[in-house]
Amino acid sequence: KIIILDFGSQTTQLIGRRVRELDTYCEIIPYNKFPKDDSTIKGVILSGSPFSVYDKDAFKVDLSEIRGKYPILGICYGAQYLSYTNGGKVEPAGTREYGRAHLASFCKDNVLLKGVRDGSQVWMSHGDTITAIPDNFKKIASTDKVEIAAYQIEGEQVWGVQFHPEVFHSEDGTQILRNFVVDVCGCKQDWSPASFIESTVAELKAQLGDDKVVLGLSGGVDSSVAAVLLNKAIGKNLTCIFVDHGMLRKNEFKNVMKDYECLGLNVIGVDASEKFFTELAGVAEPEAKRKIIGKGFIDVFDVEAHKIKDVKWLAQGTIYPDCIESLSITGTVIKSHHNVGGLPEKMNLKLCEPLRLLFKDEVRRVGRELGMPEHLITRHPFPGPGLAVRILGDITREKVRILQDADDIFIQGLRDWGLYDKVWQAGVILLPVQSVGVMGDERTYERAVALRAVTSTDAMTADWAHLPYEFMGKVSNDIINKVKGVNRVTYDISSKPPATIEWE
Ligand code: XMP
Repeated sequence: KIIILDFGSQTTQLIGRRVRELDTYCEIIPYNKFPKDDSTIKGVILSGSPFSVYDKDAFKVDLSEIRGKYPILGICYGAQYLSYTNGGKVEPAGTREYGRAHLASFCKDNVLLKGVRDGSQVWMSHGDTITAIPDNFKKIASTDKVEIAAYQIEGEQVWGVQFHPEVFHSEDGTQILRNFVVDVCGCKQDWSPASFIESTVAELKAQLGDDKVVLGLSGGVDSSVAAVLLNKAIGKNLTCIFVDHGMLRKNEFKNVMKDYECLGLNVIGVDASEKFFTELAGVAEPEAKRKIIGKGFIDVFDVEAHKIKDVKWLAQGTIYPDCIESLSITGTVIKSHHNVGGLPEKMNLKLCEPLRLLFKDEVRRVGRELGMPEHLITRHPFPGPGLAVRILGDITREKVRILQDADDIFIQGLRDWGLYDKVWQAGVILLPVQSVGVMGDERTYERAVALRAVTSTDAMTADWAHLPYEFMGKVSNDIINKVKGVNRVTYDISSKPPATIEWE
C-alpha cells in the first residue's frame, strides 16, 4: 500500500482517490503519525498544506526514518518541505500562482514523467515557490511560469512536484501518479471491488463469529451496501432498523422497505413520525432542529435495538472521508451532521464499520459487484434530518406534505429528462415566504419554493447545476399547478463555498 502523509491540504483526499483509482490500496494518515513496522508499505506521498514552510505553526516532521526506506513523492508543500529542510530556498511567489500552467520543458527519461505529453497542462495552487534547490537535487521539469516545477534527489527515490497531479485539471496527473505508484513503488494494482468483498466477508465472519449485529439503515447508498455486505457474511444474525422520522421523501419509506426486502435483508421498519413532529413543533432554529432529530433518532433506535436479544455489535455505513482524522485548522462547526455518534457508548455495543476504508465511488462499485439494483446505488445523497432542514422555519405535517409533493415532481422530472445521474444531488426547499400571485381570476397569497441542484464530486465543493431552461420551466409549471399551497418557484444559483448545499 501507499501511505499519504496529510499536511492539511484540501486536496489530500483527492490524492487518495486517484491512487485508489489505480487499483492500489492507500491510507491517509496525519503527517506526524507514520505507522511503524508495517511491511506492506511500498511508498509515501507528502500532501500539500495551507501553511508556508516558514510559518511558525507549519506542520513539521522528521522524515529521516522514511527517507531511504521508501520511495517518496512530495506534492506542493510536500515538495517545498523536502527542499527547504535540505537547504533549498522557498519564497513567496511574486504573484500567487493559481490555476493552469504548462510544462515547458522536462526530462522525458525520468521515470516519474514517463508518458507525459509536451506542453501538458498542470494545475498550480500555491502562495510559495521553490526558488533554489540543494546541490544534490536535480530539476526535472519547468513550467512557463515556474522554473523548478519538479525535481528528483540524485541517487534517491525521492521526487517533488510543485503542481497538483491529483486534480482533474492536471492533464497527465494520473500518469505521473501511476508512474510513481506502479513503476517506482512496484504496487501490483490488485485492489478491486471483488477482492474487497472477498476479504471483507472473510474478516467479518472471523470478527463477528455467531454474534448478533444491529445496523441502522437510512435508505442511502452507504448503509445499504454495508447491510448487504454484512448479510452476505453473517446472514440472519444481522437485524437492520429503518426509522421513519416523518421527514423522508414522498413514499420513500415504503419504496425503500420494499427494496430491502427484495435484497433479502431482515429489516424492522419503525414509523416514529409522531414523536418527531411533536418534539419539533414550534422549533425554527436550524441547529436546534438538527439536535432534536439526532437525539430522537438515537432514542428510537435504542428502544428497537434493545428488543433484539443478545445483540453485541452496532454496524454503520461509515465511509473513509468520515474517518480521516482531519487536521482542522479553524475548528469551526458549520453544521452538526446527523449520525448515530454516541450510540455505541450508550448501548454498550462494539462498533463494526465494514466500509470505513472506502471512498464513495468505491462503495458504489462494491454495491454493483454485490448485485444491488442500480437505482439504490446511484441514489443522490440525502441529509440525515431529511426534509426538516429543507423547510426553513418550524415544521408541520402540512409543510412536509407540500415539500414532498414539490420535491417528487422535481426528482421525477430529473429522471424523466435523463438528468438525474448528471447532478450530484437535488431537492426543493420550502421558503418561509409568501407571495402574491394570480390563478384564473383569483388573487393567491401562497408559498415560494426554491429548487436546488448541484454538481460535485465529494460535497466538499459544489456548483449549481446548469439545467436546461425548458426543463426548469416545465417543473415550475407542474409544481405551481399541482402542489396546493405553492404559487412561486425559484432556482438557487449559489455555489459551495460560499453557500452550502443544504439551506440549513
Ligand atoms: P452541506 O449543506 O454542508 O452538505 O453543503 C454537504 C452534504 O452533506 C449532506 N448533509 C448531511 N448528511 N447528515 C447527513 O448524513 C446530515 O445531517 C447532513 N446535513 C447535510 C448534504 O445533503 C450534502 O450532501
